[in-house]
Amino acid sequence: MALTPQWLDELRSRVTLSSVVMRTTKLQRAGREWKACCPFHDEKTPSFYVNDDKGFYHCFGCEAHGDVIRWMTDQRGLAFMDAVKELASEAGMEVPAADPRSVERAEKRASLHDVMEAAQDWFAHNLQSADGAHARSYLANRGVSDRIAREFGFGYAPSDRQALKKALSRFEEGMLIEAGLRIAVDDKEPYDRFRGRLMLPIHDMRGRIIAFGGRILEEGTKAPKYLNSPDTPLFDKGRTLYNLQRAAPAARQTDRMLVVEGYMDAVALAAHGIGEVVAPLGTALTETQIELLWRQTDCPILCFDGDNAGQRAAMRAIGRVLPMLKPAHSLAIVRLPPGQDPDDLLKAKGREAMERIIAERTPLLEALWQFEREATPLDTPEAKAGLKARLLEHTDTIEHPDIRSLYRRELLERYGAFAFPPRERKAWSKPSGGKGKPFVPSLPTLSENARQRLTRGTSGGMRGELLDAVMHGLARYPRTILAREEELTRLADYAPAYARVIDLLIEAAETLEPGEFSPISLTKDIPAPPDKTRFTFLREGTDPDSAAEDLAEAVSLLVERPALEAALAAATERFETDPEGAFAEQQRLLKRKLEFESRLGQIASKRAARAASIDSDNSPKQALAGEHKTDRT
Ligand code: UTP
Ligand code: MN
Repeated sequence: MALTPQWLDELRSRVTLSSVVMRTTKLQRAGREWKACCPFHDEKTPSFYVNDDKGFYHCFGCEAHGDVIRWMTDQRGLAFMDAVKELASEAGMEVPAADPRSVERAEKRASLHDVMEAAQDWFAHNLQSADGAHARSYLANRGVSDRIAREFGFGYAPSDRQALKKALSRFEEGMLIEAGLRIAVDDKEPYDRFRGRLMLPIHDMRGRIIAFGGRILEEGTKAPKYLNSPDTPLFDKGRTLYNLQRAAPAARQTDRMLVVEGYMDAVALAAHGIGEVVAPLGTALTETQIELLWRQTDCPILCFDGDNAGQRAAMRAIGRVLPMLKPAHSLAIVRLPPGQDPDDLLKAKGREAMERIIAERTPLLEALWQFEREATPLDTPEAKAGLKARLLEHTDTIEHPDIRSLYRRELLERYGAFAFPPRERKAWSKPSGGKGKPFVPSLPTLSENARQRLTRGTSGGMRGELLDAVMHGLARYPRTILAREEELTRLADYAPAYARVIDLLIEAAETLEPGEFSPISLTKDIPAPPDKTRFTFLREGTDPDSAAEDLAEAVSLLVERPALEAALAAATERFETDPEGAFAEQQRLLKRKLEFESRLGQIASKRAARAASIDSDNSPKQALAGEHKTDRT
């Protein structure tokens, strides 16, 4: 016996649908049926019904519909044959070996294609008939030319509930239902799905019609604006892109592909000569759709509305694609003016404006960064840390290791520059010329002697000790290395004796896996650790977050101080040539240095005070704390 429709009917009749559904979905009795909140879409009140007599489930919300086999494939995610095998073993039936069924399925699909073809001819014919006058004037009002209407196959479905059945009477009712053109609910008379709507055919890659979208002609009615074919043996909306069959050849010419949200956006772009455009079917982009797009071009361009909903949609697409990223494949995001879709924009401003906006598209990484940075106000350290956590959560989903480390590094760099802007840039500005430009002294112009003097600072060995402590701290908390990479690179300049250690630390930190924060072992490259109890970030038992924070601050201090002193030295050297300017700058810098010393004093004494409460070490090593305490008092 083959896997025939009769065999499948037998299987269906031996399994009680509700008992299968109940395993994963909570059902309530509703008369002779069962109801539940629909497992195929998000809802609060039940519109999902299971009818054991008919062996069907149906959702009046999202129109999910099927039998027990369909349930196993769609809800449980099994392949068709696996679903059949599992059900058969429950029903005590043996699955027949061979496979004429695929032949049969293909035959059935072929005949469904005929049905769709016939429906399209009829819809298109209606649009030209007296019945279609209203729809024709709707198209004309929207500026859709006859040429475009023909090219896109616009049609019209009359409002009569039985019109399609009459027109397509040469097909069996069952075929019309299976093709999604008629709706059969319970034992009521089936009726036409699309009524009083402007019709748009949806094609597969080979140009065969597999579904329809139907638009209402009057805004503001209760009916949904667009009604689409349900999923059928021909149509799976998550695997389909509207207009792909026309866009694919166009994309090969232009080497780009646009993705817009609406059917009418795709139509409008094509009308303005941009043919390489597709639209998903009113849902968020699926993995399959992204793969389909990548077959056309490496970096499809998603066009989203600039309002919040559009940005969330963009973010959903980004979230979907991150795990899938592979070398040379990405997405780019176009942000349209808020409240405008491409159709509106083209009407208001024309093709040039659209092309300009497309040209300004944002790469995926930048869009991710911008979205997360704008997602919430970032005015507290907690909120900033939240931003970092979200960024890392995203990068952790990237499966490709190289792409993951690159995303991680670039996002953390952006985060570091945002959350820890270099401090001197705020405080210093060049006295003459270059208005508002930050003044960054360049150390390499100083003699080696001066450099060493500056590096060691005025407090002698203390500076070296802080540096030693920081190196050990970084090895212990490698995440601070990436967050402070830029400052550390500058530190390596100021403190050449530590340049090698810093390079090794950065290298080691970059090879860490995302989320891996185990200490780096570099013991032989770093000078012996100083008194560990004096630095929170070296002390045992310090909370890692506050240790890392203190460590980051210590890095800033180390970088800032020599830069400040270098600036002072440079100002002093300029006295001969520009006494007035140099004096003014020197005064400013001295004031800044005082502020800086006071802050350093606070940190050091805070650190010393914390250390003191643990062990009251009063050795001369606390000279820094002592020195700056006197500054403040
Ligand atoms: P839009 O409302 O942005 O579509 O919805 P649009 O093409 O711009 O519509 P108009 O004709 O210019 O007003 C985006 C897409 O979401 C799906 C459709 O695929 C639509 O093109 N959609 C929208 C539905 O499936 N049902 C709806 O009720 C609304
Ligand atoms: Mn629109």
